[in-house]
This record gives sequence, structure tokens and C-alpha cells, in this order.
Amino acid sequence: MKVTVVGAGAVGATCADNIARKELCNELVLLDIKEGFAEGKAQDMMQTAALLGFDTKITGSTNDYSKTAGSDVVVITSGLPRKPGMTREELIGTNAGIVKGVCENILKYSPNAIIIVISNPMDTMTYLALTATGLPKNRIIGMGGTLDSSRFKYQLSQHLNCSPADLNALVVGGHGDTTMIPLIRYATWNSAPVTNFLSTEQQQQIVNDTMVGGATLTKLIGTSAWYAPGAAGAALVESIVRDEKKLFTCCVSLEGEYGQNDICLGVPVTIGKNGWEKIIDLKLNAEEQAAFNKSADAVRSMNDVLKTL
Ligand code: LAC
Repeated sequence: MKVTVVGAGAVGATCADNIARKELCNELVLLDIKEGFAEGKAQDMMQTAALLGFDTKITGSTNDYSKTAGSDVVVITSGLPRKPGMTREELIGTNAGIVKGVCENILKYSPNAIIIVISNPMDTMTYLALTATGLPKNRIIGMGGTLDSSRFKYQLSQHLNCSPADLNALVVGGHGDTTMIPLIRYATWNSAPVTNFLSTEQQQQIVNDTMVGGATLTKLIGTSAWYAPGAAGAALVESIVRDEKKLFTCCVSLEGEYGQNDICLGVPVTIGKNGWEKIIDLKLNAEEQAAFNKSADAVRSMNDVLKTL
């Protein structure tokens, strides 16, 4: 099994680190445009192998895509991260060109790869990857909802004083501060609805804090977060390479599901060796469906910007 992570910045490196620690593949390539950067990070990580006891072989490459040849899964993290006060959407002009170029280069050497998109604005970059490559829809997966759902569980755990791992919760819709939809009605603490234990005010607070989760961290750290985004990318890689068929919220191409067409948006899907395999219909109520439609409208107008670039 071979995995490539494009972009050796904080998110890409963290993703690669998680992949190696879990030995999800025997070959792992880290690629970056900055001279020597990916090689350096790959070496640094390889120097943890003896300490951590993993056998994944990590190599770095400065923009030489021939080194990525034959990858089964490719994670794209390239592009600019957010700065404090910036929305993910403001990155579209720069990141669209980068992500398109990366997809083309990757497919030259790995025509069968499954592509996981992390670059922002993630919903639009996933749509771009799908339309620019013409790949079968199941092989293009946007990571956003996987991260947002994990952040949602964190926020819930803070109020419930429980383990985040004991929670089931998902965030659907777009991966934007105003487009994501944390579905608290569906959230459970080991099968018990969390709404049994939380006041309406607490529930609203948790939803709000989840939605601005990324922005809060950007403000605190000074740049975009990386531990959770990197771990979310690695969790998807794991479900693919081990054919786990785990359920994650991912940004995928909708063809009538959830009432939407010609868009990539976050919905629950199973992830296995074929990429995303099945969309799960949550049967949203009227209010949730209205929020989903509103989210789709916002993402669609961002997708329209692609035509002007
Ligand atoms: C975040 C970025 C990765 O939410 O979108 O932290």
C-alpha cells in the first residue's frame, strides 16, 4: 500500500505522522513545492521510527511527482492556510490553481488513486477536484465533516464531562463557519440522546462553538489548526486502506441525495477500499433540510467563483 500526502505544512505533516504511526501503508511520500522541506520533514519523522516502532517508509520529494507513482491514496493539503480573521472562502483564488495543478500531476503517476481533499475552501476544492479530473465520484472525498464532527464531539464532551470517544455526533453541510450544521438531535452519549442531559442554552452554545471551531483556533494560534485536521485525514486513509467501511461525514458529490445536485457537500458516507461507498440518508426534518439547502446555496455560489478564475 502506498500513500502520498501533498503539502508538507503543519496539516500534511501531521497527517503523515498519524499514517506512519499507525502503519497504514508501507510506503508514504510527502511532497511539497518548497525545496528540501518535505525531505526534511520525512527524515525527521523517520527518525521517530525506532522510538515509536513503526515500519512505514517515509520519503520526501520537492515537487517530483514521479516519486508518488502508484499511490493508492493521495491526501491533498496544499495551498495557503487561514490567517486570523480570514474565512476559508477567501482562499479560493490562490488555492484553486494549486489544487487543480496537484490533481493533474498526481493522476499522471497514480491514475487509480483515491483523492482526499483537505485544502480550503474544502467544499469548493472537492468540487474542483471532481470536475477537473473527471474521476468517478467515489474516488473524491472532502475531509471537512470528519474534522467538524470530531470538534463537535469535543465540545459536547466539555459540557457532558465525558470521553469524546463515547460520543456519536455528526456535522453535515459545508465546512464553513456559517455553512456547517452540527446535528445535535442525532448526537448520543453511548446511545442516550445528549439532548437529555443538556439545556437548550448549552445545546446552542455547543453548536455555535463547533461552527467557529476552526476560527477560534486560528485566532489563538495565529494560523490554521493542524492536529485535528491531520488526524481526520489519517482516519479516512485508515478506513480506505483497511476497507473498514466506517461512517464519516465527508464532502462528496450529490446526485439528488439530500435534494441536491451538481455540488459536493458534507453528508454521512461509508468509507472503504473504493473511496466513499454509500451515502446514508438521515431523513432530515424540515428545519434541518432548510439549513442544508441554505448551506448548499452558499457553497454553490462559491463554486460559481471557479468559473471566473
Ligand atoms: C480547519 C481547517 C483545516 O477547520 O479548515 O481547521
